[in-house]
Amino acid sequence: MLIVAGIGPGTPALLTDAARQAIAQAEILVGGRRQLALFAGSGAQTRLLDADIEGLLAWLERRLAQRVVVLASGDPLLYGIGNRLVSHFGADRVRIIPGISAIQYLCARAGVAMNDLLMTSSHGRQPDFDWLLGHPRVAMVTDQLIGPYQIAREIMRRGLSRTLIIGENLAQDNERIHRLAPQQVAPGWEMNVVVILDER
Ligand SMILES: C[S@@+](CC[C@H](N)C(=O)[O-])C[C@H]1O[C@@H](n2cnc3c(N)ncnc32)[C@H](O)[C@@H]1O
Repeated sequence: MLIVAGIGPGTPALLTDAARQAIAQAEILVGGRRQLALFAGSGAQTRLLDADIEGLLAWLERRLAQRVVVLASGDPLLYGIGNRLVSHFGADRVRIIPGISAIQYLCARAGVAMNDLLMTSSHGRQPDFDWLLGHPRVAMVTDQLIGPYQIAREIMRRGLSRTLIIGENLAQDNERIHRLAPQQVAPGWEMNVVVILDER
């Protein structure tokens, strides 16, 4: 059975025992460059997970009898590779090991309740900001094109009052967490997650 292991936001301290065990027993690890580097000492063969997802699916089809572990940042089913693998192979052929998502980690660090929090993504897609900003509590994984600055501009364009909590390089040595009004958000952020709160 194919295993997809959520590895959390990127520090070994936040890896579950279940993920650690699966990775230790893997014959082949599949992941992004940064993820594979975290487990460089595992002894498993590695395969880089790149933009060619169709190629990956065909490659995995031929290796279902082997102990293959696909590494997923955060939680595999929250805007992660786990969703694509379950929809391709079926839930019966994929074991998902949950991980701590970057959103969950940021909420913990900032003391933000996750109740009624709408979790969404701008990663590789254009969000519907009219719809999104109709919600009082939103958390978003982002990408280089639509990140904190673009989100802040969408809020200002609509004349809304919101607080942005921006978590950058979470769980890394260069982690930064900011609580800002939209007017205070400058361009130029590294890997980040944004929580958008209507605090009125
Ligand atoms: C494809 S999504 C994967 C989300 C992941 N499945 C999760 O549960 O966190 C990738 C995005 O997650 C966010 N992300 C993942 N790890 C992060 C970290 N350590 N710090 C900040 N953001 C992170 C960034 O927005 C990044 O562009």
